[in-house]
Amino acid sequence: MEEVVDSKAVELPYEKEQGRERLKRVGIIYGEVGTTQFTFSVTGSVEQGDYVQVLHEKFGWVLGRVDEIKRKTNLSIEKAKEMLLGSDIEVKEMLSATVVVIGYRDRKGFLQYPRIPFRVGSIVYLAQDSFIKKVIGIEEIKNTGAYIGRLFRYRSIPIYLDINAMVQKHVSILAKTGAGKSYLTGVLLEELLKHGVTAVVVDSHGEYPSLKYPAKKTKLHDEFKVKPRGYASKIKVFSPDPQLNNAKPLKFTLAAMTPRELLNLMNLDARQYLIPLRKAMDLLKMSRKYFTIRDIIRLLESEENNNLAPLISQLEYLDEMGVFDKKGTRIDEIVEKGKLSIINLRGIPPDIQELVVQRLSMALFELRKRGKIPPLMLVIEEAHNYAPQQGMSSATKILRTIASEGRKFGLGLCIISQRPAKVDKNILSQCNTQIILKVTNPNDLKAIGNSVEGLTKGSLEEIQRLPVGVALVTGGNISMPLFVEIRPRETKHGGESVKVI
Ligand SMILES: Nc1ncnc2c1ncn2[C@@H]1O[C@H](COP(=O)(O)OP(=O)(O)O)[C@@H](O)[C@H]1O
Ligand SMILES: [Mg+2]
Repeated sequence: MEEVVDSKAVELPYEKEQGRERLKRVGIIYGEVGTTQFTFSVTGSVEQGDYVQVLHEKFGWVLGRVDEIKRKTNLSIEKAKEMLLGSDIEVKEMLSATVVVIGYRDRKGFLQYPRIPFRVGSIVYLAQDSFIKKVIGIEEIKNTGAYIGRLFRYRSIPIYLDINAMVQKHVSILAKTGAGKSYLTGVLLEELLKHGVTAVVVDSHGEYPSLKYPAKKTKLHDEFKVKPRGYASKIKVFSPDPQLNNAKPLKFTLAAMTPRELLNLMNLDARQYLIPLRKAMDLLKMSRKYFTIRDIIRLLESEENNNLAPLISQLEYLDEMGVFDKKGTRIDEIVEKGKLSIINLRGIPPDIQELVVQRLSMALFELRKRGKIPPLMLVIEEAHNYAPQQGMSSATKILRTIASEGRKFGLGLCIISQRPAKVDKNILSQCNTQIILKVTNPNDLKAIGNSVEGLTKGSLEEIQRLPVGVALVTGGNISMPLFVEIRPRETKHGGESVKVI
């Protein structure tokens, strides 16, 4: 159902230039009308999630979003049974849609919502793309924006996320396994690389080295105006296990560790082993600047004390891990302006992973404070492991510090997790740009409902049913939660699920 509306004929607070527009009528407002919400009787084709616009007698065109649609009928359960038995029953039904009012732009360009409800009988139209963009404030910020995709079901409205806002005020990416977190993180990293922004990613599963290689071209690439390409020249990969992960070695200086830190790493009782370990390390420090784990073991063995056997065997395990060296990798050599450094932790035991994240984060924070490395984004996969809500990880403290103080120094944090409820609330609450893909776990949904502003009841329902690759995005330059269809990758996605058969 289409009709021509002369928008000049009505008082518009702005957009006088709009002229004659074709608007598609989809229904009429009825029943109880509030200022923030109303229902309309559906007469045209409209779906949940569609944007609609209604002309308000005082405020002009106002934008809303269909939050829910119900089919109301007069068919009772008794009549339904009769119908089943073959009776001819006449059923009256109507579609009723609930709209959450988004608002309009006033003369000064501020988002307002009408403080007087619409009149019943007002006609509801599908919103025009230009009007949606204007009211929501969607801008194509190509210079400083990360192109992440299109407004869901509105393919002609591209969505850009402000990169400065992301680095200065942190990002969280939350969703259940397989919903598309790593794929989307790949999209973000491509955009950072394209804009010359430095980044370090803690890659728990070795998914990101594939950013070096172009993706296979598909139809979607054309639709989203994306060209496959690789970033090999801008990527450096490091790993505590350089052979396994085909990477440059990442080692830490043993002499920079305290005996207590070493014991924590080995899960040994500090009361029993702190004194002998400290004694050995102090002795070594007196005679040289750098030493190895073998040096400590040799000293302990010379004590000929059987009680030290568990300590020695744990030190031997650490030695095998090979994360410590006389002289560790210099972090200012890992980070390079405009490049992406991948810390590949595939196949590394959890305790060593924790150590890597803690040492690396501490070094990045200190070096950034002193201006020794460029401003950068630190991306952390499986963040619930390094910053758990319950219990502690050795990395929690420094990650909290970066979350609360990083913005002062241009050290941005991007937290990725499949268990939002299990990530430290202090850290999550500091993430201003929030990206949420499909979530179904009730505890995780509750955590998201509590932390995301402006989520409607309908949107929370929608999060549980999101298709792969569609995200709810808010914060930064996006002033209200928007559903975004993530663009295809330029590069190969490294997180393909393993086919069992
Ligand atoms: N935006 C997207 N477009 C197309 N396919 C996607 C998209 N996001 C995810 N996928 C596919 O879904 C699968 C799981 O995505 P992934 O990002 O690895 O999930 P997660 O990291 O959340 O566990 C991958 O095989 C990937 O190819
Ligand atoms: Mg993943």
